[in-house]
Amino acid sequence: MNTQIVNFTPAGPVARAFMQADAFVRLLVGPLGSGKTSAAVVEVLRRAQMQGRGTDGMRRVRVAIIRNTFSELKSTTIKSWEMWCPPQYGRLTLGTSPIVHHVQTSELDMEVLFVPLDKPEDVRKLLSLELTFAWIDECREIPKEVLDALTGRVGRYPSKLQGGCTWSGILLTSNPSDTESWLYKLVSDPPEGYAIFRQPSGRGPRAENLDNLPANYYQRIAAGKDAEWIKVFIDGEFGFVVEGKLVYPSFRDSVHVPAERIEPLHGIGLVLGADWGLTPACAILQPWPDGRIVVLDEFVCENSGIVRFAQALAKYMQQHYPDNDVTAAVGDPSGTTRGPDESTVFEIMNQHTPWRWRPASTNEVTLRIEAVSAALNRMVDGKPGFQLNPGCGTLRKGFAGGYHFQKIAAGQGTTYHETPRKNQYSHIHDALQYAVIGIGGANVVLNRERRRMRPRMAEGLDYNPLEPYGPSSNRPPRGVVWGDRWAKPRATVADSDYPILSM
Ligand SMILES: Nc1ncnc2c1ncn2[C@@H]1O[C@H](COP(=O)(O)OP(=O)(O)OP(=O)(O)O)[C@@H](O)[C@H]1O
Ligand SMILES: [Mg+2]
Repeated sequence: MNTQIVNFTPAGPVARAFMQADAFVRLLVGPLGSGKTSAAVVEVLRRAQMQGRGTDGMRRVRVAIIRNTFSELKSTTIKSWEMWCPPQYGRLTLGTSPIVHHVQTSELDMEVLFVPLDKPEDVRKLLSLELTFAWIDECREIPKEVLDALTGRVGRYPSKLQGGCTWSGILLTSNPSDTESWLYKLVSDPPEGYAIFRQPSGRGPRAENLDNLPANYYQRIAAGKDAEWIKVFIDGEFGFVVEGKLVYPSFRDSVHVPAERIEPLHGIGLVLGADWGLTPACAILQPWPDGRIVVLDEFVCENSGIVRFAQALAKYMQQHYPDNDVTAAVGDPSGTTRGPDESTVFEIMNQHTPWRWRPASTNEVTLRIEAVSAALNRMVDGKPGFQLNPGCGTLRKGFAGGYHFQKIAAGQGTTYHETPRKNQYSHIHDALQYAVIGIGGANVVLNRERRRMRPRMAEGLDYNPLEPYGPSSNRPPRGVVWGDRWAKPRATVADSDYPILSM
């Protein structure tokens, strides 16, 4: 193998301080293009070089590089990785998940695992790894549970017997998030052992990485953007920004969200819709006799397995809605597949809640979105047919754009992914779709049922609540194409003070 030294100068004092810190968890937050990803790539390589030798003289390192989706991992994070650690060093194995870059020299054995979090299997794999350290790129997009669980996976390889880890911990890089995100809470009140590094505004005198960006980069990207966008992506402040195409363009906060909370009608059943997975969520709605759908509440559970979610939901319903029966409880049909302990999510939910949970009749995302859109567009006696209680903060922000189709970065023109982006808003929105499907929303879309959605108690459901639930329907395949080739690595930069990789 050729020997080459890659030179790197951090993008500015904050990026440098991030790299030099030894804290167990280090977070670098900053504007667009401020050199966050590059700093983390090089820090991974630098720490690998710093790993002490084992008894046989080898430095052994296993690192996980994590991103919320495979497509973003491939289109951005791995591209940056390859710039500083070209694939010809060692072996880059594509076509497997995770993708592995195995760098082996006479003294270094480094396994770099690129882990997406699209599927529950991906998360399971990640959380069974024994790692030296890990890096989560754009960590605002991932559930906090992944970070929490990861803290127990690092520092495990090489084992104490093999000489242990010289440094172990977690690197986090991100643009700023919404102020309701866990990331904001972490920055506002960092736990012990966590170090936070905030890069200054891209349009201020201390902006970082300007030398590596096109001239007037921030002035150019600011043009035509609203104040909130500039605040987040140029000033690096926390705030709420719509980043893609709205999933529900017909949603109007002023129309669909009443000023005061709507209380449930007595004697009318409630419908629950649930999404499983890492961050289980439940939407609680009531179909009114006049045909209106009132979304009373949302129940979003952080840091929870399915049993705890079920128990917490049952308790919540008992405390908040003691006077209303639940006449339908509908969930993501993928919950009918058997987990490692041989029980399905539906069996667990049935065991730990007083209701009989049923798989929604469809998992087709377009149909689910259509069902909610149809409800949003409906008028009942001159009033909106869909009402969202003002306290449903995650659903509301999701409607406002947190739940969106992400732009596809490459290519000509503006194109968007076909399925909404998975993020903190998508789980509760999936849950809401299942609830709407549960009261016959899919039939309305498909025109199978001509009458208005006018369910009373359990009427108008898309299944018979007394029948045992039917066969599973599988999740649609995720939109991932394997086997694409990557671009050639780009030339690297001189004027270094970090000789990071010598092979
Ligand atoms: N220290 C550096 N030396 C040379 N080039 C750099 C350095 N840091 C960043 N760059 C270059 O600057 C550009 C932006 O860097 P990078 O992608 O790391 O920023 P980022 O903060 O992760 O951006 P985003 O907010 O879009 O995720 C890239 O072209 C990258 O190659
Ligand atoms: Mg980046």
